[in-house]
Amino acid sequence: MVKLWQGESAQWRVELETGGEGTALSLHTGAQGRVLIVNLGGEPTAETARRAAAKAVKTLRGLEAASAVLDAAPAVKALGPEGPAALAQGAELACYRQPSWKEEPDKPFALYLAGAEGPEAEAALREAQAVTRWVCFARDLVNCPANLLTPQDMAQRMAEAAGKQGVEVEILDETQTRALGMGAFHAVGDSAAHPPRLIVLRWRGGKEDTPPIALVGKGVCCDTGGYCLKTAAGLKGTRGDMAGGAAVCGALLALAENRVPVNAVAVIPAVENRLSRDSFLPGDVIRSMSGRTIQVNNTDAEGRLILADGVTYALQKEGASRVVDIATLTGACVAALGFTTAGLVTNDEGLFLALMNAAQRAGEQYWRLPDFPEYRRMIDSPVADLCNQSNDGCGAITAGLFIGAFAGDTPWVHLDIAGTAWVDRPRWEYQVPGATGAGVTTLYQLCRGLADAQ
Ligand code: BES
Ligand code: MN
Ligand code: ZN
Repeated sequence: MVKLWQGESAQWRVELETGGEGTALSLHTGAQGRVLIVNLGGEPTAETARRAAAKAVKTLRGLEAASAVLDAAPAVKALGPEGPAALAQGAELACYRQPSWKEEPDKPFALYLAGAEGPEAEAALREAQAVTRWVCFARDLVNCPANLLTPQDMAQRMAEAAGKQGVEVEILDETQTRALGMGAFHAVGDSAAHPPRLIVLRWRGGKEDTPPIALVGKGVCCDTGGYCLKTAAGLKGTRGDMAGGAAVCGALLALAENRVPVNAVAVIPAVENRLSRDSFLPGDVIRSMSGRTIQVNNTDAEGRLILADGVTYALQKEGASRVVDIATLTGACVAALGFTTAGLVTNDEGLFLALMNAAQRAGEQYWRLPDFPEYRRMIDSPVADLCNQSNDGCGAITAGLFIGAFAGDTPWVHLDIAGTAWVDRPRWEYQVPGATGAGVTTLYQLCRGLADAQ
């Protein structure tokens, strides 16, 4: 949608101003044609550029415009080659449309960037546009209703996209995962007639013998809560519960498309959490892939169960040296941090700083939750090695620590995107109602940052 301007004529010109109040707008019709002025704010950053471009294209599309030229020079001046890249990202994310099953084609819109020529700016633009494409891919998957995206469907869509990027794909079916002893994954996965899948995507852009970083994403294609059944209101959000899985897939494919020299593996346990004759029950004791037993206090705390086995798989079978897990995990995280900020739990200062740095570059917000030693008692069980829920409050921390128990001493970061993965009402200009693509860009930037160090 965004291209470098090469003299094409366009209906609108977009000009960027600095020094004002964020993204304020004004419209003029004069001798030069129609002009829209957008403000980058007093101290422009990549994030204010993304917001300004998003505001501009939303306004223009609201006016039924078909094309515009945006003069990127002020962004280049303020931000260097990252300026036009951020503008393109904001514009493209704001133009995103949900997949629709109506026969109503979307009106095309072209945005040209002027004043963004030069090898550095063009390279930054290409990289950003590739990442944006995979953010939109993640949004597409998350927006897809549960009846059209079973674990098998998701595996197929991911495998197809990965194949085109030269990414190695392995889809483990239920016989294979059972043979691996993934009992926590199966406790949930076997609740549904649609069988579970373990989706593994490998990008080996780094040195042959460097162990990969593992990105483990929750792939719950629908979450009814199981026997701990959700209410009607709770069931409405059921489709988006694979946003963590979509994020790790998007990030990995963006690394591949940009040929980032890093070794990374995405692990996506894909299941449905349903209610059926033989579904697991509260009180059940199950055996995880790690050998540790888990008392299931609540069947609606299913994400941590499948992630426990996902993390164990990443360590034992992929030899991961670092683990990031990402999930729409807890309502408690939304209660604590709302819809703009995701929760974070970690056991490693270095990986934490790298993640925060990546988030800053990505324009995403994460906030670290405490992991004081006494909190660990919340996952103690009288009859098993662990339990999956406690009544001690701070549910976002309990959930994180539960997954962390399976990471052991391996550097690990847990991201709870329950609030940020989906917005009924956009919180930033470049969002549209529905899936946000949360996590894709941060995970991409994290791995890209590790590339040199690895
Ligand atoms: N997927 C949900 C969490 C969720 C809630 C995501 C709201 C997005 C919006 C998760 O599987 C869940 O049901 N969590 C329970 C855990 C509880 C039973 C310990 C929750 O948060 O209520
Ligand atoms: Mn649940
Ligand atoms: Zn869930």
